[in-house]
Amino acid sequence: MKRVDDFRLMFGKKEYVPIIVGGMGVDISTAELALEAVRLGGIGHISDAMVNDVSDRRFDTSFVKDKTKQYKANINNADKSGIKFDLDVLADATRRHVGATMEAKRGDGLIFVNCMEKLTMNGPRETLQVRMASALNAGIDGITLSAGLHLGSFGLIADHPRFRDVKLGIIVSSVRALQLFLRKNARLDRLPDYVIVEGPLAGGHLGFGLDWAQYDLATIIAEVIKYVKDEQLHIPVIAAGGIFTGSDAVSFLETGSAAVQVATRFTVADECGLPAHVKQDYFLASESDIEVNTISPTGYPMRMLKGSPAIGDGIRPNCESYGYLLDGNGNCAYITAYNRELALHPDGKNIAVLDKTCLCTQMRNFKLWTCGHYTYRLKDTTRRNGDGSYQTLSAEHIFRDYQFSVDNQIALPA
Ligand SMILES: Cc1cc2nc3c(=O)[nH]c(=O)nc-3n(C[C@H](O)[C@H](O)[C@H](O)COP(=O)(O)O)c2cc1C
Repeated sequence: MKRVDDFRLMFGKKEYVPIIVGGMGVDISTAELALEAVRLGGIGHISDAMVNDVSDRRFDTSFVKDKTKQYKANINNADKSGIKFDLDVLADATRRHVGATMEAKRGDGLIFVNCMEKLTMNGPRETLQVRMASALNAGIDGITLSAGLHLGSFGLIADHPRFRDVKLGIIVSSVRALQLFLRKNARLDRLPDYVIVEGPLAGGHLGFGLDWAQYDLATIIAEVIKYVKDEQLHIPVIAAGGIFTGSDAVSFLETGSAAVQVATRFTVADECGLPAHVKQDYFLASESDIEVNTISPTGYPMRMLKGSPAIGDGIRPNCESYGYLLDGNGNCAYITAYNRELALHPDGKNIAVLDKTCLCTQMRNFKLWTCGHYTYRLKDTTRRNGDGSYQTLSAEHIFRDYQFSVDNQIALPA
């Protein structure tokens, strides 16, 4: 019977344990978590979502406060189009977050940064360009583009000296999305170094509609692997979404996936950025406590715990401080929804917004508890403490469980 450790992910002549810890913004996949994956010979993601805020927390900078001060006069204005990100600040924050992580790197693995393209930041092209270029300048090993994959994104860094040596990957949820991307990128003569195929059971935003349950990862990934093979592309294809045990992972590795990307199991790791009480909510969740809904202003369905405080919360949009979801014209679906409710309750009190959420504020405050479909199985991965709470696990324990377990078993902590 095979174990994940019987397989290796190859990038050129270099080999890695084929376990990738997926990006989880905002700083849920912390540097500490990613660094553990690297130390153990795999790949860990940090995320550049709301990186100015992450920098403030990690390095005591005051980027968010400074931006709030700059745009203070606009706070009660419904028009957010004038709120721009200072590109030098964005570059500085990214350089700090990525640079400090790379400096701390020990071991044979790699650190990648997850870049969600739906963070359009009221200037989609220039902000994404700065995010990617600054990560390259700070020495990142790889960039994974996700959520809102833009067909021209590789082109934004085509002139960067590291364009051909850094690992560039994309997340897709269908063979069609991959085909479109490759067609659009053909002129750059630069293929992705890896393709992550994310199925409908993943956490975060989904590349499916509300009919997500009609799709399954094994089918989609078989189509992608066949396509890559038929076209003789030699791109590692990586499976993600709902891979909960080492045996689940082996089933994908045996059928042609080069590695697996996992996240949900690591949401209850000591190194994960979620607050301790939220980790307990993840442990406590039953299947009926999890839903896929459409409250994310990105337009993508998102999976989360139904008890997330963000759901229905009518907080005033915080674009002067954050504004990561503003499209190129200063719009965000939450602002529209909030203003509609404000018109009904002009005193601004007791506003509830049910159809959308202020994703920036809620993710920043860890009040939107996005999670994978199998979150309800997390309680089976640990033991209970004397007070009834669940024991969190070390990232090393979870990583090694994926790497060495057989027979669908899950090793409990000592
Ligand atoms: C809490 C959480 C946050 C996530 N945030 C992001 C994100 O910011 N960007 C992204 O591309 N994927 C995100 N994901 C998806 C993961 O990176 C990963 O691909 C997926 O969840 C793997 O499936 P699994 O959770 O069932 O193991 C998130 C997943 C979770 C559980």
